[in-house]
Amino acid sequence: MALLLLFSTLNAAAIDLPEFPSTLLSLDPFFDNQAASVNGSTADFDGSGNSFDGQFLPVGSYLYDGITYELPASWGTGNDNVVANNQTIALPESIFVHELHALYSGDSSGDATFTADNFILNFVDNSTQTLTLEASNWWGWPLLNLGIIQTPYSLEGNGTGKNLNTTSIFQWSTAVSSEKQLASITLPQVNPGHRLHLFSMAITPSNTSVNNVPALAIRRARFTSRWEIVNGTRAQAVQVTIANLLPNSMSSLNTSLNSKHTAEISGPGITTVTPGILNRLVPGDQARVDVLITGSTTGSNATVVIKDSAGNVIGQSSGWTTTALIEEYTADAASLNAHETPTWWNKAKYGIFIHWGVYSYPAWAPPAEYAEWYDYYLHNPPNSSSPTWVHHLETYGPNVLYDDFISNFTASKFNASAWVDLFDRAGARYFVQVTKHHDGFALFDAGNTTNRSAVVFGPKRDLLKELFDTAASEKPHLHRGTYYSLPEWFNPDYAKYGFGQWPGGLARNPFNTTPTFEPYTGHLNITDYIEDLQLPQMLTLATQYDTEIMWCDIGGANKTLDFAAAFYNHALASGYQVTLNDRCGAVPDFTTPEYATFNAIQTNSWESSEGMDPFSYGLNTATNASEYKNGTTIIQTLVDIVSKNGNFLLDIGPTAEGEIIEAMSTNLLAAGSWLDYAGECVYDTEYWFQGSQDPNPLDGTNPARFTTTPTTFCIVAFDEPTDEQLIIHQRLPLLPGDEITLLTPNGSHSSLPWSTESSTGNLIVNVSESGVSEVQYAWAFRATYTLNED
Ligand SMILES: *[C@@H]1O[C@H](CO)[C@@H](O)[C@H](O)[C@H]1NC(C)=O
Ligand SMILES: *[C@@H]1O[C@H](CO)[C@@H](O)[C@H](O)[C@H]1NC(C)=O
Ligand SMILES: *[C@@H]1O[C@H](CO)[C@@H](O)[C@H](O)[C@H]1NC(C)=O
Ligand SMILES: *[C@@H]1O[C@H](CO)[C@@H](O)[C@H](O)[C@H]1NC(C)=O
Ligand SMILES: *[C@@H]1O[C@H](CO)[C@@H](O)[C@H](O)[C@H]1NC(C)=O
Ligand SMILES: *[C@@H]1O[C@H](CO)[C@@H](O)[C@H](O)[C@H]1NC(C)=O
Ligand SMILES: *[C@@H]1O[C@H](CO)[C@@H](O)[C@H](O)[C@H]1NC(C)=O
Ligand SMILES: *[C@@H]1O[C@H](CO)[C@@H](O)[C@H](O)[C@H]1NC(C)=O
Ligand SMILES: *[C@@H]1O[C@H](CO)[C@@H](O)[C@H](O)[C@H]1NC(C)=O
Ligand SMILES: *[C@@H]1O[C@H](CO)[C@@H](O)[C@H](O)[C@H]1NC(C)=O
Ligand SMILES: *[C@@H]1O[C@H](CO)[C@@H](O)[C@H](O)[C@H]1NC(C)=O
Ligand SMILES: *[C@@H]1O[C@H](CO)[C@@H](O)[C@H](O)[C@H]1NC(C)=O
Repeated sequence: MALLLLFSTLNAAAIDLPEFPSTLLSLDPFFDNQAASVNGSTADFDGSGNSFDGQFLPVGSYLYDGITYELPASWGTGNDNVVANNQTIALPESIFVHELHALYSGDSSGDATFTADNFILNFVDNSTQTLTLEASNWWGWPLLNLGIIQTPYSLEGNGTGKNLNTTSIFQWSTAVSSEKQLASITLPQVNPGHRLHLFSMAITPSNTSVNNVPALAIRRARFTSRWEIVNGTRAQAVQVTIANLLPNSMSSLNTSLNSKHTAEISGPGITTVTPGILNRLVPGDQARVDVLITGSTTGSNATVVIKDSAGNVIGQSSGWTTTALIEEYTADAASLNAHETPTWWNKAKYGIFIHWGVYSYPAWAPPAEYAEWYDYYLHNPPNSSSPTWVHHLETYGPNVLYDDFISNFTASKFNASAWVDLFDRAGARYFVQVTKHHDGFALFDAGNTTNRSAVVFGPKRDLLKELFDTAASEKPHLHRGTYYSLPEWFNPDYAKYGFGQWPGGLARNPFNTTPTFEPYTGHLNITDYIEDLQLPQMLTLATQYDTEIMWCDIGGANKTLDFAAAFYNHALASGYQVTLNDRCGAVPDFTTPEYATFNAIQTNSWESSEGMDPFSYGLNTATNASEYKNGTTIIQTLVDIVSKNGNFLLDIGPTAEGEIIEAMSTNLLAAGSWLDYAGECVYDTEYWFQGSQDPNPLDGTNPARFTTTPTTFCIVAFDEPTDEQLIIHQRLPLLPGDEITLLTPNGSHSSLPWSTESSTGNLIVNVSESGVSEVQYAWAFRATYTLNED
């Protein structure tokens, strides 16, 4: 026994992996701004006299996600950050760099959107790489935008007042090309409307001290809220990220991990029930795998163990803090913030959004306005400055009110089977139905909260139930989600909560005809909008319709903590996993850029939504058929988003009768036909750590995006390859022996000749003109790894 123990201890020491390294970059010489006020000292973070309250900010050495940053020893005594303005920060010595890290905040006020800021990496050979940070602002409302360091408010007016929105400092880590040694980093140009403030920066140097073997390190091990049933038991997913710290330029068979390896977790009470699989890890790369475990408790230490295919331990890393799998959520942010998007959502990648309601009858908006906002623009402003007001007057006259359209919203041709069949053939893996937009008209049975619904008026049908029941029975693999607007524009009960474009209170007749105030058809006498309408309706969607995605809109007054706990616990008890977006006023699982995507990988969950229409979610009859997104735009947008770790929620606007017009369905099916043969480069993939350096900085050509699976690497080219060659100006995680094929509708999967330029790593694939011409929209080249035999 003693001998055995001694042996295993010795063995363990020999195979302990080094800690993932980081080195601070000194920003102090560049500090030119004071972000934080303390004890009456006044700072001016944003140039308008507003500041952080320094009493809530951590001081000194600050560890997050394995990286050590440096914050001031005390806040409020001088400059504590640098406003990015094209400063160049030289590295102490030129070295290969694996990853760059920063603590930052953007300073636009109250604006939750992101701004792309470009850092320029200057390598020793004078070549450069641009790294884009999608920077978040220090506070945002009503959309949520919370960083890793949060303060309960910010100080206004040189410290005389408080802005009660949670205010944040954010963290960013990003891959750096280690093809060449890095000499310096040039900070982004200043953007006056949104200045980027950097508090601390660090780099992870590459490891150049080992020869002929990969330099493995565990980047992180995260005990998640995600689970899968294994042998009848709920097993927790632990996401383990593994790095090969050698520089990219040292890529070879010997320096890469290139055979079936497994990752396991050991620790008090922990059993690994399904190891993570890792087949390929080249120099400069990172890979994420899920290890499924049972038995974890909160607050103890676990060890990540990497084994080769023979079961020999080749490395291990200890000290990873455990978090137990959640069995029941409580209605507080600490409990609910631990929730994250489920594995099915992460893998699904592509959903269909459906904006259908009373607005589908007028179905009109001027260019660059949302047609589902008809009711709002009819009243704002109520004169000829509003194109919708003019259109309404000309089309319907001054005596037709918005609620008169309820009877025109007939759903007379609505066929739920036809819809879900279309979504399926389009290649979507989930859909999100608008169940109540800002006009307050519900497509489901809202019980005693309101009669303003399709069950009581208009079609007199429970449209949501028809769609959900049909999907569940005919296309059970499609996940079912619900959009729900927290506010209502003109609900009289919302007046006490109203804000901005959601004032609440009855709409005033825009044509000065009678009545002066428009009716709110179906309104019931309730006491409180939040208690008696919003929360019960959301709970109905969760517990009676079993929605899997609660896609809130607008935020504002809410009881989302109560809702989310009930939503998650109902799903847990029923054996499925659900998710909540960032517009519910609290505890988001994912962010939702609207008619926008991110320019760079976001490691947290995100989903872009856009209409098939160039600028409307609801049907807009003023849009010509030729303007709708076509096969090319749908596929390239989807692949771009997926390559950056996002999902794509593509919206359709059915007619008031419930039909999906041909201009939409044809293009959806066109994209679906591509996904039929190339979908393996989209679904169930992961983004690639290094991402796409695109467009190619040399000549702007060959835009391509990359995705990975444990056994393959996909290159999806957006331009048709010319001269029978695909050229990628970047070193990819390919090794001699890998088989590359072009995915085509005819399934002609012959292996293509390929080579790399030894000095640059650039890839050249030879592909016949006839193969290339079989494909439309995007050219998916799949490299299948050829593994070493151990
Ligand atoms: C602010 O005041 C508190 C209590 O008076 C004190 O402990 C702290 O050191 C002060 N901080 C600074 C930065 O002066
Ligand atoms: C940024 O700095 C570089 C030198 O580091 C200079 O060449 C360039 O003109 C500057 N750009 C702007 C917009 O100031
Ligand atoms: C990089 O640029 C500097 C300044 O223009 C020049 O002195 C140096 O020789 C260049 N280095 C290389 C490797 O081209
Ligand atoms: C790879 O490793 C093997 C065994 O150690 C060695 O024989 C071979 O020379 C190495 N190849 C390279 C390219 O370093
Ligand atoms: C966990 O491991 C770390 C580093 O190995 C150690 O410092 C810490 O005390 C351990 N914590 C517990 C609860 O065992
Ligand atoms: C319409 O109303 C808005 C807001 O009251 C006002 O700013 C605008 O000048 C008006 N336009 C016309 C043509 O009356
Ligand atoms: C819309 O509804 C009104 C009132 O029910 C009706 O008179 C009108 O014909 C309908 N319009 C259409 C196009 O069905
Ligand atoms: C509804 O759509 C399905 C699938 O397209 C079709 O088979 C069925 O005939 C349609 N039903 C009606 C009533 O049109
Ligand atoms: C609405 O409810 C309030 C209080 O519950 C009551 O005083 C009032 O009479 C009701 N109004 C109608 C129209 O039922
Ligand atoms: C949601 O409700 C919580 C609790 O009342 C509140 O603190 C938060 O500000 C609300 N969110 C928004 C966006 O208004
Ligand atoms: C749509 O088509 C009509 C008729 O061809 C044309 O007049 C109009 O300009 C087009 N609209 C747009 C936005 O292209
Ligand atoms: C698809 O739409 C894009 C963007 O509008 C356009 O540039 C392209 O020409 C369209 N492709 C086809 C085949 O119509």
